[in-house]
Amino acid sequence: MNLFRRMSAALFLLSIACVPAWAAEAPQAEAFGKTKEGTPVEIYTLKSEKGLSAKVMTYGATLVQLHVPDKNGKLADVLLGFDDVAGYESENNQYFGCTTGRVCNRIAKGKFTLEGKEYELAINNDPNHLHGGEKRSLDKVVWKARAYANDKGQGVTFTYTSPDGEEGYPGALKVTVNFFVPKDANRIGIRYKATTDKATPVNLTNHAYFNLAGEGSKTVLDHMLRLNADKYTPTDDTLIPTGKIENVADTDLDFRKPKRIGARIKTYDESAAIGYDHNFVLNEKPQDKDLNLAAMLYHKDSGRRLRIMTTEPGIQFYSGNFLKGQQGKGGKVYAHRSACCLETQHYPDSVNHPEFPSIILKPGQEFSSFTTYGFTAE
Ligand code: BGC
Repeated sequence: MNLFRRMSAALFLLSIACVPAWAAEAPQAEAFGKTKEGTPVEIYTLKSEKGLSAKVMTYGATLVQLHVPDKNGKLADVLLGFDDVAGYESENNQYFGCTTGRVCNRIAKGKFTLEGKEYELAINNDPNHLHGGEKRSLDKVVWKARAYANDKGQGVTFTYTSPDGEEGYPGALKVTVNFFVPKDANRIGIRYKATTDKATPVNLTNHAYFNLAGEGSKTVLDHMLRLNADKYTPTDDTLIPTGKIENVADTDLDFRKPKRIGARIKTYDESAAIGYDHNFVLNEKPQDKDLNLAAMLYHKDSGRRLRIMTTEPGIQFYSGNFLKGQQGKGGKVYAHRSACCLETQHYPDSVNHPEFPSIILKPGQEFSSFTTYGFTAE
């Protein structure tokens, strides 16, 4: 071998030895446009070696895209959303992929009493308060971001401090939401933390709308759903829990074995929710585990399966009943029931139900919640 070939061979071997299989590079901030008020919004891409890639943005600490492989390795974005900030700021946005809070879900008549003081919140879902309010709920503010990578994967941590009194809630609430994609799995984890300087209610979730056939597909009624829940919280006709906890057995809310979402949805056509929009009480977590199984969603044609694990005690299953045919990514039409939300959280209106697990965070305590969304295909 001549000297040149020997040197090239040596260089090649050196390059294999030096280049790690996983480049632990922090995702770069990319511009995603500006809000109406002129605040720049950034977006980050998180990738797994196994094919999953996710995009998260600073507006609303929102999950914007989630590309996952089907049984043939073909990628599709399984999340409803928009191509620009204007879409997310528009009437067409029904909380797509956002961080939802300070208190996700409903608070009856927008009222609660804490430490002897009555608080009044915006009524934005007549006659109730929904998803943290009208103008400065966590989905409508621009968060600070810090992207990083380590030998396990890539992440972005969003931070926002909601001032005392914002949207009527007491206490300055410092919230962090961390999105993490491990390098060796098709999974995204969302970890929420919060601290406060006054007692205040906190209930955080992500409001991703999934269609495992790919966003823009006509329906989610053909998906199979399993929920790890023997019980649910019945509601009045404004979707506020009555306080009772009842068995799903012998009702069309029984998803303990996988069931097609469309199989019995008709039962709820005439209800206030016009379909599924129920909080399920998750079965107790195995004592030796940090995370509990919450839900499994499966789409036969693509073979994609989503498995949701959580530390939360409940999950709101919402079958996209209020999707109105608005145009989303690439002009695709998001029809009635063309996606579903599986929102891990404490129960709705917990702040007015002392018998439910508490959502009150006090000074000196740290709120912590973790949910993972794992994808396989077969
Ligand atoms: C609620 C629905 C509501 C939707 C808004 C869900 O979390 O349960 O009732 O219409 O959010 O997008």
